[in-house]
Amino acid sequence: MGTPECVTHEHEVLLIGAGGAGLRAAIEAASTGVNVGVVCKSLLGKAHTVMAEGGMAASMGNVDDRDNWRVHFSDTMRGGQYLNNWRMAQVHAQQAADRVRELEAWGAIFDRTRDGKILQRNFGGHKYPRLAHVGDRTGLEMIRTLQDHGIHQGIEFYMEYTVLEILMDGDRVAGAVGYEREKGRFHVWKAPAVVLATGGIGRAFKITSNSWEYTGDGHALAYRAGAELKDMEFVQFHPTGMVWPPSVRGILVTEGVRGEGGVLRNSEGRRFMFDDIPDLYKNQTASDPEEGWRYVTGDKDAQRPPELLTRDHVARCIVREIREGRGSPHGGVFLDIAWIKEKMSKADAHIRKKLPSMYHQFKQLAGVDITKDPMEVGPTTHYAMGGVNVDGETQMSTVNGLFACGEVAAGLHGANRLGGNSLSDLVVFGKLAGEHAVKWAKQNPSPTVDEGQVQAACRAALEPMEREHGESPYEVQASLQEMMQDKVGIVRTQNEMGEAVESIAALRTKAQNTAVPGNREYNPGWHTSVDLHNLMVVSEAVARSGMDRKESRGAHFREDFPAKDEAHANHNTITKRGPDGEMTVERREIPTMPTELSDIIKEMG
Ligand code: FUM
Repeated sequence: MGTPECVTHEHEVLLIGAGGAGLRAAIEAASTGVNVGVVCKSLLGKAHTVMAEGGMAASMGNVDDRDNWRVHFSDTMRGGQYLNNWRMAQVHAQQAADRVRELEAWGAIFDRTRDGKILQRNFGGHKYPRLAHVGDRTGLEMIRTLQDHGIHQGIEFYMEYTVLEILMDGDRVAGAVGYEREKGRFHVWKAPAVVLATGGIGRAFKITSNSWEYTGDGHALAYRAGAELKDMEFVQFHPTGMVWPPSVRGILVTEGVRGEGGVLRNSEGRRFMFDDIPDLYKNQTASDPEEGWRYVTGDKDAQRPPELLTRDHVARCIVREIREGRGSPHGGVFLDIAWIKEKMSKADAHIRKKLPSMYHQFKQLAGVDITKDPMEVGPTTHYAMGGVNVDGETQMSTVNGLFACGEVAAGLHGANRLGGNSLSDLVVFGKLAGEHAVKWAKQNPSPTVDEGQVQAACRAALEPMEREHGESPYEVQASLQEMMQDKVGIVRTQNEMGEAVESIAALRTKAQNTAVPGNREYNPGWHTSVDLHNLMVVSEAVARSGMDRKESRGAHFREDFPAKDEAHANHNTITKRGPDGEMTVERREIPTMPTELSDIIKEMG
C-alpha cells in the first residue's frame, strides 16, 4: 500500500458532530472570534436531536409557578438514582431556562400559553409541567434555529466526513484524521482543542430510534485516545417506539403523547401502569384509574398519571405485559390518545395540533388514525446515559484538550435520563464546552501533528478494500445488533452479558477481517466496516460495565440482582489500560455532594 494523501486544515477549535450540542458549542467558540471547524458524518441538520420531540426541560414556571431550578435539580437527581454528576445537574437546572430564552431570541417559535408565555407540558419524572415545546417537533426546531444562527458565524462546516482517530501530541490533543464519505479522500484537521459532540450508540442494538450515524464514534475515539468512559451500562430504552410495520420498528413515539394524556393499555384493555406503582408513590395513588390522566401518582399538589413515571420503569412494565402474554398483535402494547375525546371537545383538532408528527407518522407508516384508534408501541433503544467522563465545569475529558458535550458525555443523567433533559443538556453544556475549548486553545496553541499516526489511521481504514476475501461488514453489524438486543437489553443477567462479551470478541475478529468490493468513492460497505470498530468498543463497554454492576438501578435492570444495592452506589470507569491495552473496568466513589445541594434533595423529599 502506498502512502495515502491527505488534505490538511487548521482550526483553533474543532467540533466533531453537528447536532444540538455541536452546533451550540461551535456558535459559542466562534463568538469569541477563533477559527472553528465542524465535521459531521451526515448532512447538516440530520441529527438525533430531532428525536427529542416532546420538549426541552427548563424550570421557567410558566404553567406552574411553583417550579424553579431547585425542583428541577432534585427531579433530575432522583431520576438518575443519584449517580448524576451533581455539579452538572445543578448547572443544567440553573441555566436551562436562559438557553430556552436564547433559542427564542434566535428565532425558535415555541407553543404559547393563553397569556403569551412559552408553553410547558408534563413529562415523566418532572414534578411540574416543564417542557418548553413546539408541538412534537421541538428538537427539529432547535436544530433549525441553531443552524440558521450558526451559518452566519464564520464557522467552516465539513459535511459527510467520518473521523477515524483523534491525533495526539504527547499527552495533548493535536487534531483529528478522517475521510470524505463521498469521494474517499483523507483529511487532517490540526487543532489544539477538539470537542466531541457525536451523540449516542443506538446502532449497537437492533431496535432503536437512532439512525445510521449513531455508532458510538465519539465514545470510541475518546477511548482510543486514552480518555475514560463512565457508567456505560446505563442505556435508555424509551418505552414507546413503533412496533409495526417491521420496516419502521423502533421509530420514536414521543413521550409527548403521554404528556398530552395518552394512556397505556394491555390486550385486556387494562391500564397496567397502575399495577406496579413504586413504593415512593403508593400512598398517593388515586383509586379510580378510569377517571383519566388526572388520577395519578406523585405529590397531591402535582398529580400525574402513572404513564409518566420514569422511562426505565415504564419500559419494564411494558416488557412484563408482553412477556406475560397481554401484548398487542404485533408484540407491543396499546397507547391511546383518542380516549381524551371523552373529556375534551375538539379533541381531534387538539391531537393534530399538539402531535402533528405522530399523527402523520402513524397515518402514513402504519395506516392508523391516532385521533380514532390506539397505537401499538414497545421499547426502543434511545439514549446512552454513559459516555466520556468530563469535568463538570469545563467539559474537558481526562485527555488534555479533548472535550465532550451532549449525549457522548456522561454525568448529567446518572442511571436514567428524564425525558426533555437532553435538549437542555445539549445547549447548556454545548455552550460551556465551546467556551472552555476556546480558553484551552488560546493557552495551548500549535500542537504538532505526528505523520505516523495519520498514516497508520488511513492505512487501517483502507484494509477492507485490499482484501479479496473476508467477512461482510453488514453481516457482522447485524449479528452484533441481534446479540446486543438479546443479551444486553432491557432485562440482563450475568450469564447473558458474559456470553455477550465472548460474542463481541469473536465479532471483533470478524470486523478486523472484512472485505469490501469497489473503491473509495461512494462505498457504503467501506463506511460500515469503519463503523464496526467503534461499535465493538461501545458494545464491550456496555456489557463489561453491566457485568460489574451487580444490582438494578435506573436503566440497568438485572434479573439476577433485582434490587438496588448501596454498595454499588458508585461509578464504573472504563479505560484502555490493561497490560495489553485491553478494556478495564474500575469502580470510583461518587464525590461528596455539598450540603447546599443535599439540603435541596432532603427538602424536596
Ligand atoms: O419522547 C420524546 O419526545 C423524547 C424526548 C427525549 O428523549 O428527551
